[in-house]
Amino acid sequence: MNILFVSSSPRGGESYSNRVARRIVDDLIARNRGAHVVARDVARQPLPHIGAAFASGRMVAAEKRSDADWQALALSDALVDELFAADVIVIAAPMHNFGLPSSLKAWIDHIVRPGRTIAYSGKGAQGLVTGKKAVLVFARGGVYSEGPMQAFDFQEPYLRAALGFIGITDVEVVRVEGVALGEEAVSQALRSAEAQADAIVRTIVVQVADDVRAAA
Ligand SMILES: Cc1cc2nc3c(=O)[nH]c(=O)nc-3n(C[C@H](O)[C@H](O)[C@H](O)COP(=O)(O)O)c2cc1C
Repeated sequence: MNILFVSSSPRGGESYSNRVARRIVDDLIARNRGAHVVARDVARQPLPHIGAAFASGRMVAAEKRSDADWQALALSDALVDELFAADVIVIAAPMHNFGLPSSLKAWIDHIVRPGRTIAYSGKGAQGLVTGKKAVLVFARGGVYSEGPMQAFDFQEPYLRAALGFIGITDVEVVRVEGVALGEEAVSQALRSAEAQADAIVRTIVVQVADDVRAAA
């Protein structure tokens, strides 16, 4: 099993999204001997915002690309390769101003690539990153899964839509919500998120075993 672990909180070891996502990754490793993890921390090692050469180069067909186009796309190509190599993608995302941290948005800008992760035809856009499982761990100060703030959640719908657009539709979500509402709220949010995380890992492990049996 190849796992791609994308984390994006600037809070490192203090981060709730990192803590729960790390638990999922560690648990998957413990249950799958030989699992291989690629960790991409876009907060610690930020990706550049896209520039003019990238914006034009991404639209040029491979056979027509100049050296400058290839150079502008090199990092993006490496990130896309990382994505295709993964069976399971675990993404840890804090909510920043109702959406994703800009560091994670930059990752999205690098991996949504015409000709690599999406194909356009007369039928419209088709996502090419199929057969993957994604687990998204969201941490928020407030509560957005229900109640009056629901309409302000541009984090989960956006990430689901962007991943779905490139073909990643098998998505599980864990929310660590209400962490700004006091110590008891934090404990409760973590307890609930960790129970959800453990259940998701059990499901993934069963699915992988089924896939191995089917392939044998
Ligand atoms: C710049 C910034 C913006 C934030 N914006 C929101 C927000 O819009 N809504 C919210 O509920 N919490 C917001 N928070 C609180 C974080 O979502 C909360 O601290 C969460 O735990 C962050 O995830 P992490 O623990 O993985 O870093 C914000 C925090 C920061 C640092």
